[in-house]
Amino acid sequence: MNVGIDKISFFVPPYYIDMTELAQVRNVDPGKYMIGIGQSEMAIGPSSQDIVTYAANAANKILTDEDKKAIDLVIVGTESSFDESKASAVILHRLLGIQDFARSFEIKEACYGATAGLEAAKNHISRHPESKALVIAADIARYGLNNGGEPTQGAGAVAMLISSQPKILALSDDTINLTQDIYDFWRPTGHAYPLVDGPLSNETYINSFNKVYNRYSKEYQESFGDFAALAFHIPYTKMGKKALQSVLPQASEQDATRLLERYDESITYSRRVGNLYTGSLYLGLISLLENSTALKAGDKLGLFSYGSGAVSQFFTGILQSGYEKHLLKDYHQALLLQRTKLTISAYEKMFNEYVDYNKTTTFNDELPFSIAKIEDNIRFYHN
Ligand code: CAA
Repeated sequence: MNVGIDKISFFVPPYYIDMTELAQVRNVDPGKYMIGIGQSEMAIGPSSQDIVTYAANAANKILTDEDKKAIDLVIVGTESSFDESKASAVILHRLLGIQDFARSFEIKEACYGATAGLEAAKNHISRHPESKALVIAADIARYGLNNGGEPTQGAGAVAMLISSQPKILALSDDTINLTQDIYDFWRPTGHAYPLVDGPLSNETYINSFNKVYNRYSKEYQESFGDFAALAFHIPYTKMGKKALQSVLPQASEQDATRLLERYDESITYSRRVGNLYTGSLYLGLISLLENSTALKAGDKLGLFSYGSGAVSQFFTGILQSGYEKHLLKDYHQALLLQRTKLTISAYEKMFNEYVDYNKTTTFNDELPFSIAKIEDNIRFYHN
């Protein structure tokens, strides 16, 4: 039985900044952000929008009434949760109108959470092929203003409908996982921003990719020639490229050229959005599928998921016949085009907006599923 991604969509906040302008204000050579880090634009949202807002908008775009009756599992992967107990998946279950007899929960392991969710959904659908599962990756990547992590922020969500008749990508069973107890990026309870050892995080990401990819090739006797493309977790677009380049000396010139070309197609959207944390791999996958004309049904894709701390997974999928007809390319490109560009001072003001969740606060945001009101520390959403 095939189990995999039946539908997939992303949503990002309606504001962004230009990275050249940020570099100028920070007295940094724009080449560092544009080329060295590889980011052109960065998404930012106001305090009336949160991970539930982005997740609901992403999922609402792909779900039909029939899907909502068939879904019996809702999983949110996030490291930007705003409640230590109640899962955002429970709020989403109601906002999206999914039938009552479903299981809803949240998974955390840095940027790996949604991949753990995808695995859980795949196992569930394998046992219950008549049902469907909704997996959402939603995050707001924040490091603070005027520091090394600032150009690698971003926000948004990716929603995936998992079924036993996937129209886009059938997920294979062959996967390699790796766990290493490392402090490269972590956010202790109560900290607004993560603590980061940037160089260690880059090094661990690259080493982890080498370890899982090489073990995969050995265990399943596959090589670069078997993959039409590799998709990476993309904290910033240069990161995945560095990891890919680190293994390419083992590849033929033809394979290396193909994988680098596909990599460039996979970063088109991330370059304009920034880091989605656990959604970044899946934003990269959407970008690859929607912007590559070289891919075709039957092609095998390799996916590298990385969550600091650190958990990694290399897994694979097969593109399904007619997959291109089920992508939302025009919608996604319009979503990026319709955003409003902020000046750097407007971005800083939005970034520093303070909300006291203990006080009743109302918002006038017209975005669907944005926060309408906060009362008694409960968020009420427009829907
Ligand atoms: N023109 C072109 N390139 C330039 C340049 C210029 N004028 N000036 C600098 N550069 C290049 C540098 O040579 C460097 O390239 P290489 O990495 O290829 O050597 C690149 O720009 C970045 O420069 P620095 O290393 O000096 O940048 P930095 O010290 O300011 O920090 C960072 C970069 C570590 C990524 C930092 O932004 C950070 O800590 N980000 C958050 C952590 C992160 O994203 N880590 C990624 C792996 S962890 C992960 O994946 C999980 C996750 O999502 C967080």
